[in-house]
Amino acid sequence: MKINRHYQELKDSYLFSTIAHKVSAYTAAHPDKSVIRLGIGDVTLPLCPAVVEAMQAAVAEMGRKETFRGYGPEQGYDFLADAIVAYYRERGILLDRSEAFVSDGAKSDLGNILDLFDKDNTVLIPDPVYPVYVDTNIMAGRTIRYMDANAENGFLPLPDEGVKADLIYLCSPNNPTGAVYSREQLKRWVEYALENDAVILFDAAYEAFVRDPALPRSIFEIEGARRCAIEFCSFSKTAGFTGTRCGYTIVPQELQRGGMSLNAMWLRRQTTKFNGVPYIVQRGAAAVFTPEGQRQIRENIDYYRENARIIASALRERGVWFTGGENSPYIWLRCPDGMGSWEYFDRLLEEANVVGTPGEGFGKNGEGFFRLTAFGDRANTEEAVRRIARI
Ligand code: MLT
Repeated sequence: MKINRHYQELKDSYLFSTIAHKVSAYTAAHPDKSVIRLGIGDVTLPLCPAVVEAMQAAVAEMGRKETFRGYGPEQGYDFLADAIVAYYRERGILLDRSEAFVSDGAKSDLGNILDLFDKDNTVLIPDPVYPVYVDTNIMAGRTIRYMDANAENGFLPLPDEGVKADLIYLCSPNNPTGAVYSREQLKRWVEYALENDAVILFDAAYEAFVRDPALPRSIFEIEGARRCAIEFCSFSKTAGFTGTRCGYTIVPQELQRGGMSLNAMWLRRQTTKFNGVPYIVQRGAAAVFTPEGQRQIRENIDYYRENARIIASALRERGVWFTGGENSPYIWLRCPDGMGSWEYFDRLLEEANVVGTPGEGFGKNGEGFFRLTAFGDRANTEEAVRRIARI
């Protein structure tokens, strides 16, 4: 029996678990302190009424013999897949129903998609980055090449023709930096992927935060992307589903490699290893796409966007360098006085009782930077800004 030794190459714990442990230790030692959490990007507003009503109706259906449902289609019910296709169509992107796969969230799919690719592929990952891309590839023993995202390139690295990659991870609006690729920049990535026979794994979990119409919200806005990209989306940040769990992944029919259809492979993979998202949850997710649902989730997103504006304007007033906060719920700031990012984390926790995420947790280029999220509640966000300003 041989164990997967690649697990030894991982850090001891997942970034957000490490932070949660540090915060629990601090609150246990200081029960009198009120700690404000702007660390993990977890939402604070409840599910919107359209979603709640749809889920309640679905619960009632599940409680009656005539309408009860057992196993559903692994790739999602038609009513939700059709709503996803319509959501893309409104933005001028035409998808076939067979290209939309419903899942329990982008995180799972971003890890699971690796089942489709050989272990010997070279993976190109920006640094800093959402740690799931790195850790899932380390677990599989793949070679990772990092591309530097830094203040010089606005945390938006572009292709280097000298590097040959097979899989490329892009996230825009970016987690953790909040930076957003322009159409022109994404076009360069699509061209690179087509030239190199590579596949782009495009994480669009934060697309709903983009308000500038000049900025792309999907890789499929770029010509040629259907032949080289897979897109991952989520209801987590868009509609408050972090605890409810639902997302979707778009695998175009044109995407073929080595004579095989990635769409067919993903369907095979999902039908084998996944039994689908609960009917009740899918009914809630479908309600997000109704006119009422869209209006209600927009209100929630606007609330978070206002939080981002409050944080960003406080930083601007003090001359702190940052990215994000405008078309993204994340604000990525340079730690003051040349402080290290874990040092700044400890200082904010101990002196301001505010939790953020140290940039170094997202990769070596994150050292000296710090991430704050706009997903807190308003009063807490305002109070956090006051406390940070004070120290
Ligand atoms: C984050 O804080 O980066 C996210 O909430 C993590 C996630 O979406 O899994």
